[in-house]
Amino acid sequence: MSVHKEVKRITTHTVQEMKTRGEKIAMLTAYDYSMAAVVDASGMDIILVGDSASNVMAGHETTLPITLDQMIYHASAVVRAAKRALVVVDLPFGTYQGNSKEALNSAIRIMKESGAHAVKLEGGIEIAESVSRILTAGIPVMGHLGLTPQSIYKFGTYTVRAKEDAEAAKLKEDALKLQELGCFGIVLEKIPAQLAKEVSESLLIPTIGIGAGQHCDGQVLVIHDMLGINKGFKPRFLRQYANLYDTMNGAIENYVSDVKGREFPNEKEQY
Ligand code: KIV
Repeated sequence: MSVHKEVKRITTHTVQEMKTRGEKIAMLTAYDYSMAAVVDASGMDIILVGDSASNVMAGHETTLPITLDQMIYHASAVVRAAKRALVVVDLPFGTYQGNSKEALNSAIRIMKESGAHAVKLEGGIEIAESVSRILTAGIPVMGHLGLTPQSIYKFGTYTVRAKEDAEAAKLKEDALKLQELGCFGIVLEKIPAQLAKEVSESLLIPTIGIGAGQHCDGQVLVIHDMLGINKGFKPRFLRQYANLYDTMNGAIENYVSDVKGREFPNEKEQY
């Protein structure tokens, strides 16, 4: 008799049901096996293998340099750890904007080579054809509107988006379009809380906010930011749940000091 207890996987249908019954959705990024195992065991609904890996894992200033192969590497490690969470992977810059065939090939590579459950793309009506084509292949798609970091050189800054009426109206249209195409959810990044509320109430699919206020159907943060590993990154929307930079720094300094002082290893720590 097997004593192995099956964990029920969160699916795109589960998150839809959560929206319908008003249960908030928790999403967090992860990029490697060990972190993803902790995140999954903590009851996370969605793990996002974000292209923010370009910043927090590789040290780039923007998300633009990360490649499809690198995203697949990160995603495969996360998928191996995630027993319960839905794993969503960002299509990196330059792998879907060109044409919809390329977009589909990129999405297929992610699904086939990493075993992830869905992909996320930044943009609205401009990428409708790519979103449609990916969905036609049976691959679930999450949208991403508002501050879309892959367009940082168009925006010029990481400040709040859609404060003006015209941009807010375009965002509302984009959100409805993504829903109509068949996206299962939309990330709303750094937009006014009132706009996020209106968008969330107008949609049947869930919205997941980052810097978009309390009325979104769920929330997402970058794990390095909320654990306080990124010293000095403290935007207003970020709640820091730990100060791991100082904890890790202290532990590592103690190790250096023990090695240099011949305190480590001691007699019990050797064979
Ligand atoms: O790449 C990422 O981490 C993201 C989140 C900020 C939503 O897209």
